[in-house]
Amino acid sequence: MSATTVVELIHAAIAEKGRITFAEYMEIALYTPGVGYYTAPRLRDENSDSTARHTDASRNPEVALQTGPPHDYYTAPQLHAVFGAYLARHVAQVWRDLSEPEHFDVVEMGAGRGILAWDVLNGLRQAAPQCWERTHYRMIERGAGPNAEQQEALDAVAAHPVVTAQTLAGPVVGMVLSNELLDALPVHRVRVKNGELQELFVTVRDGAFCEEFGDPSCSELVHFAERLGRPPEGWQGEICLAAVAWLETVARALTKGAVLTIDYGATWGELCSTRWVGGTLACYHRHRLNKNPYGRIGEQDITAHVNFSALIAYGETVGLTTVSMQSQAEYLVGLGIGEELTALANQPATAETQRAKRAITDLIWPDGLGGFRVLVQKKGEA
Ligand SMILES: C[S@@+](CC[C@H](N)C(=O)[O-])C[C@H]1O[C@@H](n2cnc3c(N)ncnc32)[C@H](O)[C@@H]1O
Repeated sequence: MSATTVVELIHAAIAEKGRITFAEYMEIALYTPGVGYYTAPRLRDENSDSTARHTDASRNPEVALQTGPPHDYYTAPQLHAVFGAYLARHVAQVWRDLSEPEHFDVVEMGAGRGILAWDVLNGLRQAAPQCWERTHYRMIERGAGPNAEQQEALDAVAAHPVVTAQTLAGPVVGMVLSNELLDALPVHRVRVKNGELQELFVTVRDGAFCEEFGDPSCSELVHFAERLGRPPEGWQGEICLAAVAWLETVARALTKGAVLTIDYGATWGELCSTRWVGGTLACYHRHRLNKNPYGRIGEQDITAHVNFSALIAYGETVGLTTVSMQSQAEYLVGLGIGEELTALANQPATAETQRAKRAITDLIWPDGLGGFRVLVQKKGEA
């Protein structure tokens, strides 16, 4: 189905209400069943092309597991299997911290086709076989999940069939993890003017989408700003209430265990600073960044930085204790990836060792993926 359909749906929503919040706009553009950026059937077709795990397209069956829209961005799991292999070490640690339960849930949210799932399961099988045998892996994906071939590849590397669902339901005893999920959730856009919080709305004038400010659409936005600290006069940025709702769902489902959230983002203080004047909203099409969310509607990604202070603050109200917040570089180095780099440097240079070295360097590069934030929260004694 064409992107025009998404445009028509947005026009229809605005015709009905007069104007819609940016979060509503983003929800339609990214997630309308069948036509949104993450839900259109075209993703299934694109998935079969060769751009996938671009550093390592020769590896099978992972090639069948390329996630999401591969032409617009690369995520850490798409870079190399080493990312999932090191996450597997953390997963095994959580299993041990929980006293090695017979049934151990690993729930990945926003799992796409399952490439990270494949790598984590494979990493567990190799490095922590006892944990692997007890791991029940669940992928929660709102958009296009694995096709039959991908599901087969996943089941082949798991001790128990990998379950895919659209929504999370408890109970979970184990770990809930996500990589680059929260940056893809719809955001409200707000500013502070004359000491008041105002919200940006999308409307139509002379047939074209345009923006206007007004009073916030809901009191939660004002409570959010009060709670985290009122931003300075003139500030404009994003508030992601969907991330708060997501965290509540996760905390409700988790009986005991850990929540691992990896994404680009910052603290609220950083997001309110002059570094991100005007906010962090960004769009990606074919690896090109642009700032126009009203172009290529339904065909480009729309994203915003994750507010990690909000996850910590709201997490505490729903029973999640913060264990650590680190950069991705610190997190992976803490799991031992630096030793792997040293070992690779001492091995004869083959195409694969070179690829792995490059990937590790990229994963810990401070101005790139290494600068992502990694938040670990826990519930119970995990
Ligand atoms: C930017 S992609 C990241 C995919 C993958 N985690 C990776 O690292 O390559 C975000 C994914 O989250 C999914 N998603 C968005 N909202 C979701 C939700 N509420 N529950 C589950 N999945 C969601 C999208 O459909 C998309 O596949």
